[in-house]
Amino acid sequence: MEEILEKARKTGDLSRAEITALLSVSDQKHMQMLFDTAYAVKAEEVGRVAYFRGLIECSNICIKDCFYCGIRRSNQNVERFLMDEEEIFKEAMWAYEAEYGSCVIQSGERQDEEYIAMIERVVKRIAEATGGSLGITLSLGEQTEEVYKRWKEAGAHRYLLRIETTNPELYAKIHPEDHSMDVRKECLKALRRTGYQVGTGVMMGMPGQTMEDLADDILFLKEIDIDMIGMGPYIPHSDTPMGKEIPAYTDEEKKVALQLGLKMIAVTRLVLRDVNIAAATALQALEYTGREQGLKCGANVIMPNLTETEFRPKYQLYDNKPCTDENSSMCRGCLSGRIKGIGETIGFNERGDSLHYRKRTVQ
Ligand code: 5AD
Ligand code: FES
Repeated sequence: MEEILEKARKTGDLSRAEITALLSVSDQKHMQMLFDTAYAVKAEEVGRVAYFRGLIECSNICIKDCFYCGIRRSNQNVERFLMDEEEIFKEAMWAYEAEYGSCVIQSGERQDEEYIAMIERVVKRIAEATGGSLGITLSLGEQTEEVYKRWKEAGAHRYLLRIETTNPELYAKIHPEDHSMDVRKECLKALRRTGYQVGTGVMMGMPGQTMEDLADDILFLKEIDIDMIGMGPYIPHSDTPMGKEIPAYTDEEKKVALQLGLKMIAVTRLVLRDVNIAAATALQALEYTGREQGLKCGANVIMPNLTETEFRPKYQLYDNKPCTDENSSMCRGCLSGRIKGIGETIGFNERGDSLHYRKRTVQ
């Protein structure tokens, strides 16, 4: 273990067996050593700075039916909403004025022209109003290359599309038959061709998922030369097929899920070095300080929620999602305090582009 960490301090060139070994540590002492090493590599590669991305969850209408997700099409217990353009624009401007540097527009998946055109218009409006200085990330699911291009031309420049898992059997178990991992991989390629900074990631701690699976996930991220990573612990949602199979997490299970989430961040930092890694909100659903713990073991991006409080309870991807009663300024104040508390600075007014992307595109 110590030998592997020693090596990882200098190079990200770890084998599948070494990655699996790091992910499998469970005693406190070695886990802390792993986190500290990942933090040292983060400090060296991307600095002790956390970048804010204001998250706008603009609609929970979704054509997909993923077995884990609270806003899946078949869930009848969700009241569906769609923000209008004005509301999305207003929230993005709030991020700009709050000096966030970037915003993320996320929603359930829709592939109809009406929705595609609405997103195109609002992205254009935000880009024009901020003179292109506010980073615009989209997280709107699988689309055609044509659509990705339209949104890019409108002014978006980053795109997040999680692969969820790279194990084909597990992918098939957590999705209906017509959801395809190959399509998703094609989308990631199309995004790359279109010129976006591309982000992907997985969920960890799903039933049946092994440490080897997670090691393969990390190797996949490396292989496709990804720029940004958003990954988080799987948390059951009681209105979903997967959530019905197992009861809500006990305190002990929460602790284990959080540790796995943190270990994944740490090992991903060790292997991928200069990418942007988000401390997922789901970490905070497991423990109040989950997100800052994420920053302490290698993450460098945090996504304060900007969604109008009225909509927040309707965007529950998993149970106990934090900040559903809060508003944008409460999250700003709260997260700023937490980040200062761990001795990091916040990259206010900086887009905080992925260093990996910059290096990749300069060459
Ligand atoms: N637990 C944790 N993360 C979830 N997501 C969806 N449902 C859950 C859940 N139950 C994640 C997926 C998706 C992202 C937007 O939210 O990884 O890509
Ligand atoms: Fe939203 Fe703390 S981050 S209240």
